[in-house]
Amino acid sequence: MSTAERARSTHGGLRGLISNLAIRLRVLAETAGKRFNDLMPKGLYARSLIIVIAPIVILQSVVAYVFMERHWQLVTHRLSAAVTQDIAALIEVQRTYPQDRDYATLRRLARERLSLLLEILPPEPLPLPGPRPFFDVLDAALSRELALQVGRPFWVDTVGNSALIEIRIQLEDGKIMKVFARRGMAYASNSHIFLVWMVIASLVLIGIAILFLRNQIRPIQALASAAEDFGKGRDVAGFRPRGASEVRQAALAFIEMRRRIERQIDQRTTMLAGVSHDLRTILTRFKLELALLPEGPETEALRRDVDEMGRMVEGYLSFARGDAGEAPASTDIEASLREIGNDAERSGAKTTVTFHGMSTVKVRPDAFRRCISNLVVNAARHGDTIAISGHRDHRWLTVTVDDDGPGIRADRREDVFKPFMRLDDARNVDDGGSGLGLAIARDIARSHGGEITLGDSPLGGLRANVRVPV
Ligand SMILES: Nc1ncnc2c1ncn2[C@@H]1O[C@H](COP(=O)(O)OP(=O)(O)OP(=O)(O)O)[C@@H](O)[C@H]1O
Ligand SMILES: [Mg+2]
Repeated sequence: MSTAERARSTHGGLRGLISNLAIRLRVLAETAGKRFNDLMPKGLYARSLIIVIAPIVILQSVVAYVFMERHWQLVTHRLSAAVTQDIAALIEVQRTYPQDRDYATLRRLARERLSLLLEILPPEPLPLPGPRPFFDVLDAALSRELALQVGRPFWVDTVGNSALIEIRIQLEDGKIMKVFARRGMAYASNSHIFLVWMVIASLVLIGIAILFLRNQIRPIQALASAAEDFGKGRDVAGFRPRGASEVRQAALAFIEMRRRIERQIDQRTTMLAGVSHDLRTILTRFKLELALLPEGPETEALRRDVDEMGRMVEGYLSFARGDAGEAPASTDIEASLREIGNDAERSGAKTTVTFHGMSTVKVRPDAFRRCISNLVVNAARHGDTIAISGHRDHRWLTVTVDDDGPGIRADRREDVFKPFMRLDDARNVDDGGSGLGLAIARDIARSHGGEITLGDSPLGGLRANVRVPV
């Protein structure tokens, strides 16, 4: 391998390594992001609380840390240094000048000028150092200063809650100088008040934030549940725009949208009803005229067509009438399914009905019944065995109708939902309805906020699946 080749291959290897690394990093970042998202609360209330509380907590922690680290330690060091300087001066005086027998002048000086209680003890060994407190700025500061400024063996006792701290120093002549100082002289003792105030202030802030946020979130929740109810075809009673202007705007838009949709449905219904009604009038006239004609093969065919058309118009009329006006009510779905099953049984199909879960669900009873019954009638028309099964969990009511008929090809399963669409041309035409059954069923399912899907049944025929939110 030439040098150039080797260089190129190393280069390529490096590039591969880097791109590999980049991919790995991206995957890592994505999983971390997803994990973080999973951990974050999902509700707006909890999220906005975090948005308010997190900065407070972070700010407090930073301030508290900086304060402890810088200010508090510094002040304590300064105070400790001052006390130590006083003690060092006293030691100097004791060593340099002749003293009275019981050090009366020195003690008076210490007490009156330096606020220190002083005693000189006869020579004795210093007590053993006590257990060091885990976190004690004072102990550390004082020990450092004593070592630095006095340079003699010493012993300090800062533990305990007493207002005094005790310092013992071994003098050059072996005697012990015992000093009591007020804790406050050596230690920035009431600094924690600052922290306490900070915590209290932020608790008050958080409390206010909680109150305010709750009031802001409530209108959004009301809007969400109103939209949800409307989607399920339920009455949205007593909803009115409230809260911040954006939420109010959304609520107004929702109300306007609802009004428009209701108006549209109304319009469609009236128009269809009008058309069907007019057609029915004409059909009745046809029938009358047909009755007046002499019997014959042509009139027979004509009569059949008119009858078929009459059925279609009837179907259209009931489609147009729809389930408008029916109020949602708590309905025993299992009982309803069993009734439908019995009807199918009577029409000659072997039918089983099963149900799991709480049976009462709020639906428009007649409409829902018609929806399922349309599916079951289809199943009975095309198959011999029918299985109806219902299942209800905390979110959905699902009803499945299976049959052992010929089924519907996957690419036609959307078509059959179109009004008047029938695939029966090759099958027995006369037997049929108008091709509205599935259109009506889907209409009803959707007006409940749900959906119908078709699929393959384990029985060999068609499986129709209705799912509506509870
Ligand atoms: N269970 C089924 N198995 C096979 N084909 C089906 C089944 N259900 C419906 N179809 C097909 O879908 C078409 C449309 O069904 P739809 O219920 O809308 O109308 P229809 O049953 O023909 O008339 P209607 O229900 O108005 O009396 C049917 O004509 C039929 O070809
Ligand atoms: Mg049908």
